[in-house]
Amino acid sequence: MNKPHCLRPFLVAALGFATLLPAALAHHLHNQSDTEELSSPWMNKNLSPGERADMVLQQMTLDEKIDLMHGNGMPGWGAPRPNAYLGNGGAGFVLGIPRLGIPIIQMSDAAYGVRNSAENGRYSTALPSNLASAASWDPHAACEYGALIGRELRAQGYNMSLGGGVNLTREPRNGRTFEYMGEDPVLAGTMVGNRIRCEQAQHVIGDIKHYALNDQESGRGEVDSIISKRAMRESDLLAFQIGIQVGDPAAVMCSYNAVNGDFACENKYLLTDVLKKDWKFKGFVLSDWGGTHSTVKASAAGLDNEQPMDDFYGAKLKEAVQSGKVPMSELDDHVRRILRSEFAAGIVDYPVQKSVVNVDKGFAISRTIAEQSTVLLKNNGDILPLDAARLHSIAIIGPHADFGMISGGGSAQVDPEGGRPTPWHAQVWFPTSPLKAVEAQAPQASVQFDSGANPASAAALARRSDVAIIFAYQWESEGMDLPSLSLPDNQDALIEQVAAANPHTIVVLESGTAVTMPWLNKVAGVVEAWYAGSKGADAVADILFGKVNPSAKLPMTFPLSVADLPHPHLVTPPPGTQGTAAVMRTGEARPTFAVHYDEGLKVGYKWYDAEKRPVLFPFGFGLSYTTYNYSGLKVQPGAETSVTFTLKNTGSRDGAEVAEVYAALPASADEPPKRLVGWSKVPLKAGESKQVTVTIDPLYLSIYNEASDSWKLVPGSYTFMVGGSSQSLPLAKRINLK
Ligand code: BGC
Repeated sequence: MNKPHCLRPFLVAALGFATLLPAALAHHLHNQSDTEELSSPWMNKNLSPGERADMVLQQMTLDEKIDLMHGNGMPGWGAPRPNAYLGNGGAGFVLGIPRLGIPIIQMSDAAYGVRNSAENGRYSTALPSNLASAASWDPHAACEYGALIGRELRAQGYNMSLGGGVNLTREPRNGRTFEYMGEDPVLAGTMVGNRIRCEQAQHVIGDIKHYALNDQESGRGEVDSIISKRAMRESDLLAFQIGIQVGDPAAVMCSYNAVNGDFACENKYLLTDVLKKDWKFKGFVLSDWGGTHSTVKASAAGLDNEQPMDDFYGAKLKEAVQSGKVPMSELDDHVRRILRSEFAAGIVDYPVQKSVVNVDKGFAISRTIAEQSTVLLKNNGDILPLDAARLHSIAIIGPHADFGMISGGGSAQVDPEGGRPTPWHAQVWFPTSPLKAVEAQAPQASVQFDSGANPASAAALARRSDVAIIFAYQWESEGMDLPSLSLPDNQDALIEQVAAANPHTIVVLESGTAVTMPWLNKVAGVVEAWYAGSKGADAVADILFGKVNPSAKLPMTFPLSVADLPHPHLVTPPPGTQGTAAVMRTGEARPTFAVHYDEGLKVGYKWYDAEKRPVLFPFGFGLSYTTYNYSGLKVQPGAETSVTFTLKNTGSRDGAEVAEVYAALPASADEPPKRLVGWSKVPLKAGESKQVTVTIDPLYLSIYNEASDSWKLVPGSYTFMVGGSSQSLPLAKRINLK
């Protein structure tokens, strides 16, 4: 039998603190620390996580079970609890059961890196935003992304990640779009799944969130998302389904909003019928922070763990169990799931030990992922890549472009290296300087900076420069939505004026979602850098000067105008409603307004296709410094349909092409015109060609049938289309599927 080695760190920490504690609490701790479990049968790694969980469960008292089902506060959330010292500075923690060898679950937000490092005197790498990582269309990059976060969580003493956001981009003004993976369920689910898979391989509990249909921040705690079963199963829920299938996360975070009348964290359809029964999810469900609104209803619906407090899953839950309102079998199912996840993720067998982060390695990974995620949107007259040897003068224009690049805010926020703690709602610029990065790549050119505060002076600088590069930003954060998709702070006017002064103007966008570009026809180049992380400026410079050939594609449509969105006006809470803060922790919470997702299946490009509306840049679009040719499409039906074609790099530079496969379903399926069903990111040397095969999961060709509550492949004629964007599909073949 394996010798358990999980107790020591906990004991050292606990006993160290115990000297500072009131006597009664210290006594409690010492009692908890009895070590009878050292040779306990559940420490046998050869047993399955489920078997091990069952063995532990049998030993547990009711109080210990309740302990596992709730959080113990979060720094800054209400009055600190007596056991607050056991936390690790993260968003929450769940008590362990030291006498049984079960460690504390230490959770930290970790959307694009570990949160609150500066507050805690630690360090973490900031990766490009999650949306950026989706733009790489590279599951290996997603894996590196997750592995880095997993390593850095453990280095900081955490064993659970609160990250892996995959809410589908239904409403691009949603302030958290940067935390998610775009508008297509197959792309988003695959990317988030790979991130979680590799994060958990580092022995942390991975989490996918926010389940489900939390597609806007406005009134998120009181909005009711109204949508048909079929539409949700084929869109937002499909992204979670695929993410869970690929990543096998040990935890799912339910969201603040209600879905079809019931809050997501007490929604039996979402938590039990779909997640636990249909998808066979074996992990546990935790509520978003303050997203629990009941005891008996939530427990019966399938909520396993309340965060960050115990308003409903502490004394009230114990009472409900004792009075029979919550059956013991139901309680045991919740507890078993939490225990099973702890074993499955390896946090029992591989206890966390704090260590020093490899900063250089983190920087290198962050830079590479940023390079793979930067989308080249426009390149008139091949203005890019810039030839450093031929440029005498370069104007760098934009707020803070001398100093840094912007990042996404809220609970996703990563503190900049060497920086101070960052507030929840503030623009944070990472110290990655576009000015310095461009200077480094063009050492013999004169590189001048203008903040753009005075557009006339920026235009004057542009006029006397060979080329002008404007770094434009759009800031997003949790807790707010964008009023529009326009660049804020008069930046459209700045770009117009600079472009009028110099036709060789390139715009680099630092955005968390789509932006509208009224100036598009006047500039020569546009590069979408997203929120590019710790090494964003170096990555952008590598693209601008051609050290890296861009290979990313848009994971969401850029519309011409917000008037073209399914909901031209953002739906906001009516005046005088309860307000998120007020409803959060009361038992009387109820949704106060609804968003009717009547566009249903038509999310993102499916909407523009079906409505025949032109867009600024389509889903899946992105240019390269080389060119590709597609030919020879073959489609082979079978258990998994396989789509084979030849892809050739017809230019003079090495590159990597995201080859996208779409399917149009038979007319009787009553679907939008086409859907993404697979892709392959193919590296190709200049002149090289390769035969590429993409196999299609039958689920991706199916529709959700409400009458039978199941997925069905509609027999009939399917058209498979292949190409480099959702609107450039040179190959097509029609076949019959049964
Ligand atoms: C967010 C979650 C986050 C939690 C803890 C909530 O406000 O919606 O995504 O994990 O806070 O910080």
